[in-house]
Amino acid sequence: MSAQDSTLITGISELVTNDGALVTDEGGPGGFAALTDAALVIADGTVAWTGPASRAPAADTMVDASGRAVLPGFADSHAHLVFAGERSAEFAARMAGRPYRAGGILVTVQATRAAPDVVLRANLRRLAAEMLRQGTTTFECKSGYGLTVPDEARGLALAAEVTPEVTYLGAHVVPPEFAADPAGYVDLVCGPMLDACAPSARWVDVFCEDGAFGADEAAAVLAAGRAAGLGARVHANQLGPGPGVRVAAEAGAASADHCTFLTDADVDALTSTPVVATLLPGAEFGTRQPFPDARRLLDAGATVALATDCNPGSSFTSSMPFCIALAVREMGMTTEEAVWAATAGGARALRRTDIGHLGPGARADLILLDAPSHAYLAYRPGVPQVAAVWQAGRLVAGSLP
Ligand code: NIG
Ligand code: FE
Repeated sequence: MSAQDSTLITGISELVTNDGALVTDEGGPGGFAALTDAALVIADGTVAWTGPASRAPAADTMVDASGRAVLPGFADSHAHLVFAGERSAEFAARMAGRPYRAGGILVTVQATRAAPDVVLRANLRRLAAEMLRQGTTTFECKSGYGLTVPDEARGLALAAEVTPEVTYLGAHVVPPEFAADPAGYVDLVCGPMLDACAPSARWVDVFCEDGAFGADEAAAVLAAGRAAGLGARVHANQLGPGPGVRVAAEAGAASADHCTFLTDADVDALTSTPVVATLLPGAEFGTRQPFPDARRLLDAGATVALATDCNPGSSFTSSMPFCIALAVREMGMTTEEAVWAATAGGARALRRTDIGHLGPGARADLILLDAPSHAYLAYRPGVPQVAAVWQAGRLVAGSLP
C-alpha cells in the first residue's frame, strides 16, 4: 500500500463492507456484512484496508468517526434525470384518487423537447448533486423524454457528462407523431435513433407494459440494442402483470425493474437467471400502487436491488434513504437486506464489481452516517443522516466530524 495520500477512518461503530459480495459479473456468494469497532484505510482512491480499529495501520490523515457508521455509497441503478418541467398537479390529482397512467410521460416529453440544453443540464446537475448529498455515489441515467433522434441523442450526451451508466430509453412510450404507426416508431428506435444514441450509452431499456411496448416490440428493441453493444434492462411488470420479466430473462438483461406484479413463473425466471430484480418503492409511493413483494423474491432466492426511479412523474425522489425506509416498512425487507440492495444490489444491477462493497480494492465510495448503525436509515425516516460522502477517496459532500 502506498503511504501517499492515505486516509485512516477510525472509531467506526459499524462498518458495512458487504465484503466478498461482488465476486463475478453475475454475482456470487455474499450478502450484507459488517464489522463493529472498525477502521478503514483509503489509498489511491480505493479501499486499502479494513479491520478492527485496534489494529489499524498508520496513514497520512486520520478521521475519527466517533462512533458513527460507515457504509458503501449507494448505487442507484434506475433514474430518469434528463427532463424539463414538473408534474406536481398530476401527483396531487393522483393523491385525490386519479390512477397513474403511462400517458403522463408525454407531458414531460413536450417540455423536454422545448427546453434548451442549458436548462436540461442545470436540472440534471441539480438532481445529481441532490443524490450525492444523500449518499448516492453512482447513478444510472436514462433518456426517454426526447423520443426524436436529436432529442434522445442530446439527452444521452448530457447524461454522459455526469455518469458512465447511461441508458438509451427511446422505447419509453410511442410519441404522438407516431400514434398511428407504432411499428414505424419501433423501427426508428431500432434503427436511426439507436445509431445516433449507442455511442453515448452503455445500456438499452424498454418500457414493456400495456400502453407502452408489448413483448415482441420490447424484444426487438433489446435485440437491436444488444447488437449495437449495449447491455439490456427492462421496465417490467410495473402497472400490472405482463411479459416484461420474461422478456428481460430471454434477452439476458442485467435487470428487470419495478417487478410489482409478478406471477410464480416470473419469480422463477428471476431466480433461475442472473437478472436482478430492481425494486423502485418511490414509484409505488408516488402512484399509490401496492408495493412490490420483496420478501417473496428474497425467499425464492432472487437478487434484489433498490433504486429511486427518480423522474418527474411516478417517483420524484432522489433519496435512497427514503427508498430504504419504504422497503423496510412496506416490502418485508430487513434493514440489512435493504442496505445491501441499495449498495451491492445496485452494483449487481449495473454489473459493476468495483462499487457497492468496501472490500480491499473497491473504489473508495463511502458514506459516513450521523448515526451509529445502518438501521437508522429506516429507523429515522425523513431525517438527513448522511454526514459526509467520499467518491473514489475524495470527500465530495458533507463535512467531517
Ligand atoms: O419508471 N414506467 C415508466 N417510466 C417511469 C415513469 C415516467 C413518468 O411518469 O414520467 C417509471 O415509473
Ligand atoms: Fe423508470
